[in-house]
Amino acid sequence: MFRRGGLKIPRLKITKWKFKLLTLTIFGFFSIVATLVYVYDYRTVTYFLRPIWDTPPKSFQIIPHYYADGMNLSELCALHGWTHRPTPRRVFDAVIFSNEVDLLEIRMRELMPFVTKFLVLESNATFTGKPKPLYFADQKDSRFKFIHPQLLYSNIPSRPQIPNRDPFDNEKHHRIAMGNFLRTAGIQDGDLLITADADEIPSAHTIHLLQNCDGYPSPMHLQLRNYLYSFEFLVDSNSWRSSVELYRKETQYRHSRKTDHCLADAGWHCSFCFRYIRDFVFKMKAYSHADRIRRPSLLNPERIQKIICKGSDIFDMLPEEFTYKELISKLGAVAKSFSGVHMPKYLLENAETYRYLLPGNCIRDPLPVSL
Ligand SMILES: *[C@@H]1O[C@H](CO)[C@@H](O)[C@H](O)[C@H]1NC(C)=O
Ligand SMILES: *[C@@H]1O[C@H](CO)[C@@H](O)[C@H](O)[C@H]1NC(C)=O
Repeated sequence: MFRRGGLKIPRLKITKWKFKLLTLTIFGFFSIVATLVYVYDYRTVTYFLRPIWDTPPKSFQIIPHYYADGMNLSELCALHGWTHRPTPRRVFDAVIFSNEVDLLEIRMRELMPFVTKFLVLESNATFTGKPKPLYFADQKDSRFKFIHPQLLYSNIPSRPQIPNRDPFDNEKHHRIAMGNFLRTAGIQDGDLLITADADEIPSAHTIHLLQNCDGYPSPMHLQLRNYLYSFEFLVDSNSWRSSVELYRKETQYRHSRKTDHCLADAGWHCSFCFRYIRDFVFKMKAYSHADRIRRPSLLNPERIQKIICKGSDIFDMLPEEFTYKELISKLGAVAKSFSGVHMPKYLLENAETYRYLLPGNCIRDPLPVSL
């Protein structure tokens, strides 16, 4: 026979222990949140809590991608399960340009043997409505003269300032303008359209392959190696926003998720890869997420230089991740990479000019910054 008391005592003990644990957990959790609010701000807290309230987007179906130097194209197409085309497709590379001048040149040199037309669209204001020089137009007839036979350039005037307009609204306006620009550029059904920002650079062999094969899904995102500040900091391999597609009349120029298909290891995405500190400041203010500048000290040039050498977050924020495993693995600075293998060719051929993009050269030119 069970004695009631004998049962009760151990159960009470467990309950007390559980209660303490629960209290400690809740206390610990709120301490972390309070610390985050104190040290950072509320946004950091939403990022910290994100794995709880947000579900990750559906994962991509990654298409394996093969390449080795000097391989026969028909065999390469066949290896992917595709067929070799008798004639290469025409390729249109369409970029909405902000101020990534060096990366744009590296991109054009990388892709020029395969691209029919490079479309560059720029505006005299940023997505956040701040006036900006036409950086590309300023150098179009000097530095970018080499690309004239393949270049189509257009600028769109800034729209009248409306207070508190969502920067994404301006971004959409630019993307519609690019759609019209493409049509006037003479793009036709079946041409290969590359949709990407200037700093999302598909590798030459990827575009060469896609222009010569038939049978891959369209549209298809390009999985790019994600770098920060230079090719010294490899964050992950999961940049996916850029895409390629076989153009049709209905095609819209969009830089968002279009499909589950994503071609593996198709190039490089170098974010905040600038030569001058002033360009970092410009980008921080111009960014569609410009509300991330919570205190002016974030724009301090010495601080920015330190961050660039450390590989930590330029906005002092937590990584935006959907699981704690990812969030914790990405806390703090990005590990340094010592690899200069598989880089855009023009970058290595002009290593002296583009030193700052290569591992081991984080110090930027201290040009005066006008804040
Ligand atoms: C590539 O391979 C195919 C099939 O194996 C062959 O017919 C063709 O001649 C090769 N082309 C070259 C340029 O070697
Ligand atoms: C941009 O250019 C247009 C026309 O060229 C002009 O009306 C507008 O004021 C300019 N915007 C800024 C912010 O300079």
